Amino acid sequence: MSLIPLRASEIPDLIAWAKFMFWVPYYSLLNMYYKWRTMPKVWTAKGKVCVITGCSAGLGEGLAKLWAKQGAHLVICARRVEPLTLVAKECESLGAASVTTVQVDVSVEADCEKLAKVAGEKFGRIDCLVLNAGISLGDIFEKLPLSAVHAVNQVNFQTKVDCTYYALPYLKKSTQPKIVPISSLGGLAGSPTRTGYSATKFALKGFFDALRNEYPGFLEVTLIYPGPVQTDLNRTRVGSMDLSWKGAMSVDEAVRLINRAVGDGKLEEVFTDAGKRTFWLRDWFPYVRNQLIVEKFNRLMVVKGADGTESNKQ
Ligand SMILES: NC(=O)c1ccc[n+]([C@@H]2O[C@H](COP(=O)([O-])OP(=O)(O)OC[C@H]3O[C@@H](n4cnc5c(N)ncnc54)[C@H](OP(=O)(O)O)[C@@H]3O)[C@@H](O)[C@H]2O)c1
Repeated sequence: MSLIPLRASEIPDLIAWAKFMFWVPYYSLLNMYYKWRTMPKVWTAKGKVCVITGCSAGLGEGLAKLWAKQGAHLVICARRVEPLTLVAKECESLGAASVTTVQVDVSVEADCEKLAKVAGEKFGRIDCLVLNAGISLGDIFEKLPLSAVHAVNQVNFQTKVDCTYYALPYLKKSTQPKIVPISSLGGLAGSPTRTGYSATKFALKGFFDALRNEYPGFLEVTLIYPGPVQTDLNRTRVGSMDLSWKGAMSVDEAVRLINRAVGDGKLEEVFTDAGKRTFWLRDWFPYVRNQLIVEKFNRLMVVKGADGTESNKQ
């Protein structure tokens, strides 16, 4: 093993990095200038038509209730009608301008079209589309049924594309249209037991960064990267390993961060200091990143026992 961990193939990278460092002060100023020039107006949900997918539980339910308090017109959906109806009633009593519920399975393209049409035809526009509905995986790739990986791909990525496609004509009728895809820290760095899940969250960034750039200065996209939040996500997770909720963020705190980021028109919101560190480490210090992720996941995972008990992976 050589003393310096550098291979010939890395020398061009090192030279490019040194050149880039020379330009950093210039790019910093330029970035500040473009940010200032394109800074959107501060936004609140009051009176806005907000379509949120996956509102029968978790983050979708929390966000619907928060925006109800602000007086939004809510169009909320999920597959399970009973909990969705309960959420709708609570939203009405919290002060929503109106609440429309739609039973939707977002993995069915026609349902995505129905959701956009219900909102668009009732209000003539959609101001904000929150793409939240999602499911997860909890095992190493070789132990997962391939069908589960396909299902995650469909619900977490393809449906978000489909819902956006059908909502776009109505979003374009808004004066300040917004799309809020809910990604994950798993969308910043590949995490063990999350192969298919991480892939869908990475894909969201590619798709929505490109879409935002198709409507510069008009369509605002705020990608949200939550860390662990105490929701029902383990309920639908396929595999033998759940995420431990020890130390996880509350739904109230999570939706407060989402609301603030959307209101400010941020491009991205990364939850927690550890999440932000992963973001910065991701490309600059990849070996540190990989080590930290493996350690962190070993701490976060709990193994489901056959009797329903949970034990730490380590
Ligand atoms: N909780 C976390 O730690 C965490 C961390 C990072 C990212 N996220 C992301 O946050 C988002 C929300 O997750 P959550 O934690 O709030 O999970 P959750 O409590 O399980 O809620 C998921 C919601 O999505 C809906 N949903 C799932 N599949 C659907 C489908 N095919 N059609 C329509 N609705 C569907 C569910 O409703 P029905 O079952 O009634 O359809 C439910 O309302 C997901 O995209 C997830 O990846 C969560």
